[in-house]
Amino acid sequence: MAATHIKVRESGPYLVTGDLTLTDCDGNAYVLEGATAALCRCGHSESKPFCDGSHKRVGFAATERAAERAG
Ligand code: FES
Repeated sequence: MAATHIKVRESGPYLVTGDLTLTDCDGNAYVLEGATAALCRCGHSESKPFCDGSHKRVGFAATERAAERAG
């Protein structure tokens, strides 16, 4: 099993690499094994939970950085 890695793209999606199963609120499972999936972070994708590039069309801007974790 490959370790799972999540990279936050500036003003873009979350890039998830590794083995995981993503389950939506209806219980539909998307099994990702060793692949890279781009998950929508802007809320405008027509193919959620996946990014379809709409973040560029809508001018999604998110440049925040991860905060230090407490404890
Ligand atoms: S982040 Fe790409 S469509 Fe939402």
